[in-house]
Amino acid sequence: MGGANGKEEVNGMEEAQVFEGVSRRNFIKGVVAGGTTVYAAGYLFRQNGVTLAQAAAPGTVERLITLRVNGQDRPVDVMPQETLAMTLRYKLGLTGPKLGCDRAECGACTVLLDGVNHYSCSIFTHQVRGREVTTIEGLAAADGTLHPVQQAVLDETGFQCAFCAPGFIMSMVVMVRENPNPTRAEAAQALSGNLCRCGDYNKILNSAMRAAEYSRRA
Ligand code: FES
Ligand code: FES
Repeated sequence: MGGANGKEEVNGMEEAQVFEGVSRRNFIKGVVAGGTTVYAAGYLFRQNGVTLAQAAAPGTVERLITLRVNGQDRPVDVMPQETLAMTLRYKLGLTGPKLGCDRAECGACTVLLDGVNHYSCSIFTHQVRGREVTTIEGLAAADGTLHPVQQAVLDETGFQCAFCAPGFIMSMVVMVRENPNPTRAEAAQALSGNLCRCGDYNKILNSAMRAAEYSRRA
């Protein structure tokens, strides 16, 4: 919004009064450019306990939101109809979730929402506010120790090109939690929402069975 003297106004205050020298336009650029910049900037713009990024005008959708991803709060600029896959890959730099079909068929984009596997290409980012998002980047321990499912896939060299691997691995994580001792048929059923274009299902199932074995030991 343009102020009377050419300065922008935010909530009726001149930009200069609110931001103390930090332009709103530059702040928005920072959101698009990288989450870490914005993470710090969020503290600067707090006013009466609400960040200006969270204060959407009536009738509009808040674009500057904070997502909980892999145990971290990640401020990000999100368009109203942006999918979670797009936000994760192109705004937050988390390229583990792949975009294959982009229409809920292949499972390459699978992530966990509150521990449940979902296609991130088929849910709007605004719908996951307040939920815990986990991508494959968040599976390993802080010291780099792989999740038992990741270790099992590595030991079985379970994929050919591995484009589908992150999605399968996220579904395996749920499988071993819900059924720690699956039959091969049960593993196939649990992973039926994921497709492998290389047709490497035999090795993928070997990985799934080993993943269950490692998870029982963990
Ligand atoms: S990219 Fe999401 S299901 Fe295929
Ligand atoms: S290993 Fe290539 S798509 Fe699955």
